Amino acid sequence: MTTALITGSTAGIGAAFARRLAADGRNLVLVARDTERLREQATELHDRHGIEAEVLTADLATDGGIESVEKRLADRKHQVDLLVNNAGFGNKGRFLEVSMADELTMLKVHCEAVLRLTSAAVTGMRARGRGGVVNVASVAAFLPRGTYGASKSWVVQFTQGAARDLAGTGVRLMALCPGFVRTEFHERAGMGTDNIPDWMWLDADKLVAAALTDLARGKVVSVPDPRYKALMGAVKLAPRGLLGGITSKTGRKYGPR
Ligand SMILES: NC(=O)c1ccc[n+]([C@@H]2O[C@H](COP(=O)([O-])OP(=O)(O)OC[C@H]3O[C@@H](n4cnc5c(N)ncnc54)[C@H](OP(=O)(O)O)[C@@H]3O)[C@@H](O)[C@H]2O)c1
Repeated sequence: MTTALITGSTAGIGAAFARRLAADGRNLVLVARDTERLREQATELHDRHGIEAEVLTADLATDGGIESVEKRLADRKHQVDLLVNNAGFGNKGRFLEVSMADELTMLKVHCEAVLRLTSAAVTGMRARGRGGVVNVASVAAFLPRGTYGASKSWVVQFTQGAARDLAGTGVRLMALCPGFVRTEFHERAGMGTDNIPDWMWLDADKLVAAALTDLARGKVVSVPDPRYKALMGAVKLAPRGLLGGITSKTGRKYGPR
């Protein structure tokens, strides 16, 4: 049986990855900050699918948290075959409204943790000649959307570069770029969602199914929905000034401070 490690496994997209990979018969290492929630998730997935689900409490905004996951990924006796770097969040506010500490925490979780965990996982995968890494970015990577969009651009660029460097080793890396997905993300960030049209919302389970198909096909960047594929095609053609006006507003309505 193969093993997948998912960061941010307890909610939203991470939980959808956990459900799907458990149903496929993979053992799981579940990573997030809330131990109680992780334990409940592990028990439920074990009981429903008969897989082994390990709990690893870690705050990826801290060095200690990142180190504990690096250590698990480097454990050659209990190898991890698929890493899903999914943990992430949005900050409440635009540039200069967010504290520098919160901006830096975002870079730590979205960029530093992704770099360090990918490196820790891929070292063993390359030696074994197989393995996969899914780095959850966002379509915001292609749009001017503050530190969030910039950090997700980094995830896409990093993944593309690493995938190229590892070509021919048997290790697959893919950046997953979802549009709006119904999860806990917006509520946690204090973002209003009533200005996001219904047609823009994606279902997390369908998103994950499409992402895993793209990974199996060897895609390096996955935008797994025809609506967003069309939108991203239009984005490439649109003038940058126009883009900034439209895309920096949609889904960035913040509640009272
Ligand atoms: N929802 C969307 O519309 C959307 C669109 C594009 C991309 N994304 C990306 O998709 C990923 C997952 O987002 P989601 O929408 O599924 O969010 P979510 O429902 O809020 O879930 C976030 C998960 O990450 C964990 N987490 C948050 N901060 C963490 C930290 N410092 N250390 C460890 N775990 C942490 C949370 O658990 P704990 O709180 O217990 O730690 C939770 O399991 C993120 O990278 C996000 O940027 C989301």
